[in-house]
Amino acid sequence: MMNSPAPAPVHPHDLDGRAAALPHRHLLGIEGLTAPEINLILDLADGYVEQNRGTRPKSDVLAGRTVVNLFFENSTRTRTSFELAAKRLGADAINMSVDGSSVKKGETLIDTAMTLNAMHLDVLVVRHQESGAPKLLASKVNCAVINAGDGQHEHPTQALLDALTIRRHKGALKGLTVAICGDILHSRVARSNIHLLNIMGAQVRVVAPPTLLPSAIDRMGVEVHHDMKKGLKDADIVMMLRLQLERMQGQFLPSQREYFHFFGLDYDKLALAKPDALIMHPGPMNRGVEIDSLVADDIHRSVILQQVELGVAVRMACLDLLTRPDSRPNL
Ligand code: CP
Repeated sequence: MMNSPAPAPVHPHDLDGRAAALPHRHLLGIEGLTAPEINLILDLADGYVEQNRGTRPKSDVLAGRTVVNLFFENSTRTRTSFELAAKRLGADAINMSVDGSSVKKGETLIDTAMTLNAMHLDVLVVRHQESGAPKLLASKVNCAVINAGDGQHEHPTQALLDALTIRRHKGALKGLTVAICGDILHSRVARSNIHLLNIMGAQVRVVAPPTLLPSAIDRMGVEVHHDMKKGLKDADIVMMLRLQLERMQGQFLPSQREYFHFFGLDYDKLALAKPDALIMHPGPMNRGVEIDSLVADDIHRSVILQQVELGVAVRMACLDLLTRPDSRPNL
């Protein structure tokens, strides 16, 4: 027997009693969002976590809507969770394979987007190797655009799911010390997290060798450390980042073995953080390079798979909010 759709979670309401909406047409980055807007997304996502864990995880909030995933770079977590999120909300979800598309015949990014736009989409979820590609597309299409990771710029839904994971464990983000460790230079996850954590009142440290830090990092409102012992001291959250070998041209490190010795998270280094510090990683992991396997799989400390679970709920919240009729144009 088929289950009937789950009732939609209770939506946060504004002061006039209307379902609250984001004052944005698109989600292109965390930069530019406000703390109340981030809390609105996280509050709605909290409701979707419960829906997903229940016996009736599907609802019809997005019935009749169409969501297209347009990924020019590889992905496991983000693409699958956007597809699942759209389907859980009752939308038609389409994964467009760039490898099997007319992009391979030379069709441009803009022509691809305008072609899809002509099919009356509601949301276009875009991952692209060039920073700014989702913003460019947003100026050419009528539907909402969600940035699923652009170059080294931003990955907003990753930062939102990280925030939800932290909030559910620690109650709030304000006042926490978060150490983001590893390849900050190539990481859009780091940039989105730095913006979000600063907006929400957390103290952010970045811990990396100088070669893996952007030159303007000290203008991003973070403490900079080159030594894990200092960077992890009394941290509430230890967020490890993947060494993005595919984006490295030239020599950034003497060797991966030496990198693990100085910057890889093992139990000795973890002991410097608070005893209840959470271990996070956006994935995919390079085990034995930036994180020891035992630490990554420690069910008492690591929340890496919870991050994946909560990613579906966060993406449901983003799809829901951006398709509400009262979503307003981006300012
Ligand atoms: N964290 C993340 O973006 O993972 P995927 O590349 O697998 O989507």
